[in-house]
Amino acid sequence: MKWAGGKGRLLSQLRPLLPPGVACMRHVEPFVGGGALFFARAPERALLTDINPALVATYAAIRNDVQNVIQGLRGLAGHHSKESYYQVRERYNEGHRLSASTRAAMFIYLNKTCFNGLHRVNRKGEFNVPVGSYKNPRILNENGLYAASYALQAVHLACVGFESLLESAKPGDFVYFDPPYEPVSETARFTSYARNGFTREDQTRLRDVYHALDRRGCKLMLSNSDVPFIRELYQDFRTDTVAAPRAINCNAKKRGKVSEVVVRNY
Ligand SMILES: C[S@@+](CC[C@H](N)C(=O)[O-])C[C@H]1O[C@@H](n2cnc3c(N)ncnc32)[C@H](O)[C@@H]1O
Repeated sequence: MKWAGGKGRLLSQLRPLLPPGVACMRHVEPFVGGGALFFARAPERALLTDINPALVATYAAIRNDVQNVIQGLRGLAGHHSKESYYQVRERYNEGHRLSASTRAAMFIYLNKTCFNGLHRVNRKGEFNVPVGSYKNPRILNENGLYAASYALQAVHLACVGFESLLESAKPGDFVYFDPPYEPVSETARFTSYARNGFTREDQTRLRDVYHALDRRGCKLMLSNSDVPFIRELYQDFRTDTVAAPRAINCNAKKRGKVSEVVVRNY
């Protein structure tokens, strides 16, 4: 799936920062999103959670019934156009009686064809992102879906906020936190607050969870933007920087790499 803040392009920099012996640990991701690190590692045991119910339900359908998800997606991919995008979006938003696999196929179809792979819902919880302008979007990746289903087989999934980790994390777990990022400028703050609603108070509560799990004996790795507020929150821990090839400026000429921090307790 395309996901805002997806870690796909940072994997080669994140892998060397994993803890020694990680292969034997349970992999825990409380902000799983597109799950780039999880799917790249495909660990034997994992707990994946996110506050987005449609995303978590889609992973559950891919795990439990991948063939029907693929079949549904094949039908949708075969008829893709601007008009059918809006018809599918409407059916998806109305569709309480849709099966789990049909809903998941629609969710993936909308994710692959909508504007910038955004996920945004209105106050009624309806998905309201407009169609994207891709010439030939890759809607169905059958092998990718089978591989994802395989990776998810032994995974525990839950739609919960990050604080529920205080109940579920165990000593020896490897926990990777990839929360919505702290904005890098005042302008960015304005837009990203409107977009993800993750406030400074949430970042501070997350720091408290990080401290509690550190005391519990979990191995912890956290990504965030490289801004003084975040550095201060995690000043007791080891901090590395990685360079993210991410567009932060709408002027294409000024696009470049932005620095992100990776905070570890090991
Ligand atoms: C930066 S994205 C994670 C990206 C992911 N690592 C990837 O590679 O695609 C952040 C995720 O946190 C989720 N989220 C936002 N607030 C949350 C909360 N309070 N508790 C748990 N998840 C939350 C969002 O739904 C989103 O999927």
